[in-house]
Amino acid sequence: MSRGSPLASSDRSTAQSQELVERASKVIPNATQTGSKRPTQFVQGVSPSHIVRGDGSRLWDADGNEYIDCNAALGPILLGHNHPAVTDAVKSQLDEGTMFTMEHPLHVEVAELFTEVVPCAEMVRFAKSGNDVTTLAAKVARAYTERDVIATQGYHGWPDVWMSNKPSLDAGIPDVIGEYTEEFEYNDIESVEQIFADHPDNVAAIVTTPVNLEEPEDGFLEELRELADREGAVLVFDEVLTGFRFALGGAQEYYGVTPDLGCFAKGMANGFPISALAGKREYMEVISRGDFFYSMTYAGDAASLAATKAAITVQQEEDVHEHIFRVGESLMHSYNEIVAELGLGGRTRAHGLPPRFVIQFFDEDGDHDQLARSLFMQEAHKRGVLYTGGHIPTYSHTDEDIDQILSVYHECLEVLVDAFENDNVADRLEGDPVGATLRQRTGEND
Ligand SMILES: Cc1ncc(COP(=O)(O)O)c(C=O)c1O
Repeated sequence: MSRGSPLASSDRSTAQSQELVERASKVIPNATQTGSKRPTQFVQGVSPSHIVRGDGSRLWDADGNEYIDCNAALGPILLGHNHPAVTDAVKSQLDEGTMFTMEHPLHVEVAELFTEVVPCAEMVRFAKSGNDVTTLAAKVARAYTERDVIATQGYHGWPDVWMSNKPSLDAGIPDVIGEYTEEFEYNDIESVEQIFADHPDNVAAIVTTPVNLEEPEDGFLEELRELADREGAVLVFDEVLTGFRFALGGAQEYYGVTPDLGCFAKGMANGFPISALAGKREYMEVISRGDFFYSMTYAGDAASLAATKAAITVQQEEDVHEHIFRVGESLMHSYNEIVAELGLGGRTRAHGLPPRFVIQFFDEDGDHDQLARSLFMQEAHKRGVLYTGGHIPTYSHTDEDIDQILSVYHECLEVLVDAFENDNVADRLEGDPVGATLRQRTGEND
């Protein structure tokens, strides 16, 4: 066992993972369900591919290897894996059944809870995934304004409206759809105004993630609010990732700017599959119109609603968000200190905000360095830290976890320094290097 690697084991194997990937490749396109979980996102042969158990900040892979989780299942885990309050609430609901011929009272109760904690929420509809509610938001905005164009930036899911103008990801989408989606630059209000100038009286909505790796600057969110009001467009915050993470009321509470509609999913139920579109009555009532159709058999199963209620209650009673900010700040800050100490400035950095940041690697030209990233990932996985790039701290991460992660990262960076000095990064890889991330491919530069 090495100095900073309490979870590392000399006889570590990922044979079960490799076998599962091989079987999956035959029966599952991409071998996985989620872009960021594809085998190509990891160092194949070294990284785990399938996880069988999670508890608090820890995960166990199909071979029984233990890891400290750093990416919270891409965001859904807010309180920690298998959080007792959420697990108990779901178990009790399962004893009563979970899908019925009519709604469950929890549909009303959780919608009411939303209106208490989310600033824009006067009415709420539930769904299953982030995609469902971002796409519903666009449809509501178009129906409300009787306009066609969506001005947007950020990742909002796979549906046509969001992917139609991503050149490398638009297969299967008629060209004409792309004419109605226009991209702007985050923190560049002029690029948003330009879309309104190009499509007079035809922009239905501004749909944006309220915060990315960069914070809003120079009153960007306030300016979006004013612009939408002035132009009669609907302002939508996609809070799929930021909701319940920046604050109980999401980034809209944290930054004090209230959109017309907000999309929620990850973090909402600590991993259970449920999402919500919440918004001002005037816009949400479009969904009740006779000429508007939105319906979903599984929207808000009682188990996921029970999980949502329990997760919100924990956040109301405990300092969840303060903890997440403290953990994230500590990890980011200390990582960047180690980078400076080892003279790796410019080649890697922790970048973003405490509730979500990425550890990135760059080559000498400043481009993303997938080989360095792969070597770092390989060494981190071998030492029991599940580095995947993105870092999403949870309420379950302890000070001891932070120390262990940093100690492992220190060792991984030392390996990288040595590999840079000897010009043998590629030679040290024990599997195929990782490919570009989904967010790099969708132009988000993560
Ligand atoms: C900001 C944002 N919006 C929408 C989505 C799509 O959500 P889902 O994958 O649950 O459909 C994601 C997923 O990563 C997201 O991060």
